[in-house]
Amino acid sequence: MDKLLISGGRRLKGEIPVSGAKNAALPILCASLLTSDSLQLENVPELNDIQTTLHLLRQLGVNVQNGHGSTLTLCAAQIDSVEAPYDLVKTMRASILVLGPLLTRFGEARVSLPGGCAIGQRPVDQHIKGLAALGADIKIEHGYVVASAKRLKGTTLRTDMVTVTGTENLMMAAVLAEGRTILENAACEPEVIDLANMLNSMGARIQGQGTGRIIIDGVERLHGASHNVVPDRIEAGTFLCAVGATGGDITLHNAAPDTMGAILEKLRETGMQLECGPDWIRARMDQRPRATGFRTQEYPGFPTDMQAQLMALNTVADGTAVIVENIFENRFMHVLELGRMGARIDIDGATAVVTGVPALSGATVMATDLRASASLVIAGLAAEGQTTIERIYHLDRGYEHMESKLNSVGADIQRISGKRS
Ligand code: UD1
Repeated sequence: MDKLLISGGRRLKGEIPVSGAKNAALPILCASLLTSDSLQLENVPELNDIQTTLHLLRQLGVNVQNGHGSTLTLCAAQIDSVEAPYDLVKTMRASILVLGPLLTRFGEARVSLPGGCAIGQRPVDQHIKGLAALGADIKIEHGYVVASAKRLKGTTLRTDMVTVTGTENLMMAAVLAEGRTILENAACEPEVIDLANMLNSMGARIQGQGTGRIIIDGVERLHGASHNVVPDRIEAGTFLCAVGATGGDITLHNAAPDTMGAILEKLRETGMQLECGPDWIRARMDQRPRATGFRTQEYPGFPTDMQAQLMALNTVADGTAVIVENIFENRFMHVLELGRMGARIDIDGATAVVTGVPALSGATVMATDLRASASLVIAGLAAEGQTTIERIYHLDRGYEHMESKLNSVGADIQRISGKRS
């Protein structure tokens, strides 16, 4: 398995391009199943999770052509299978996003249940409940969600909690349903808006995306479209936390600061100087950061996907920060690893109390999930001496060329290739 070796203590200075958002690209790729025409996508990040999704789509019979760089063309003129097998779904929970599109266009779907994952239980009961309300005959058989419906019928739906992929799955199912669907308590994330906008350019009739009430008027068929995936606000926020922890001056290009309000506000509280244009962010940090507490919430609140990274910044801040994780029940696994580097963090249930130390010290640590890995990279960049991060395949799932982007602004990160054990 690959490792990263980080020599810490260098200030970051220079420019970094932000990639397309993983969490927007995944549902958008699955939306290719909704039409027999071609979808042309730009700004698709090169990530293992994207490869896994393309592998699944190819298995279903989707024709995928790589264009230059981050461009892809997908065509689901005809498909060979309506089954997403366990082997693929277990490696990436977002595979559940093929359920809505397969069911609504082909009238049947068999998708393996994802099971638990490192950051918590993460059930998909709301996806299932919503599809049943749209008229699907849906049951769990041998670990699979097995669904069928002649044509789904629009209705008013309310999920018990705000769920991002749940909203996306139900929205994709509803676009080809008969009549009007109203999704109450819908997720407002920018990635949901990006998917809705692309579906509309395919001929869907969706309104209210970005609010808690999405209205979808079903159509008979969708057509092809071109779409540019929204920039990754979590990748951008991760680089900003890195410069907050190390000090320096970086400019992010191809960013979407208007999707990053809560993140930018918290970073300003740490003492970071931020300037933003429509698609760029300049961040300067000339002082030790000030401790900044926060609670994770659904958008537009502070994202759970940035919790570990802002915690890493707080480990070297002046003062004490109280951090509350409201979305996932087991998302503090980076805490013990950060502790191995000298961080002082106490956990009580969903609350972490971080008392900043003047400096972390490099150590060997292990990545446990995607954003936890990013927090260890930030800690390694800020620490004195060398940090080795093991099991970085988690990082490759969600960050495009992370070490080369950071090295281009002055970091010293080496990848040591090893065999997967
Ligand atoms: C998405 C993001 C993930 C992010 C998360 C929260 C993608 C591919 N992934 O994950 O990066 O951390 O949103 O912003 O976009 N829940 C249920 N039943 C359900 C669905 C969800 O109980 O049927 C619970 C979950 O366990 C969790 C909460 O609802 O506690 C929110 O989860 P959800 O928004 O669904 O997360 P994902 O869509 O899986």
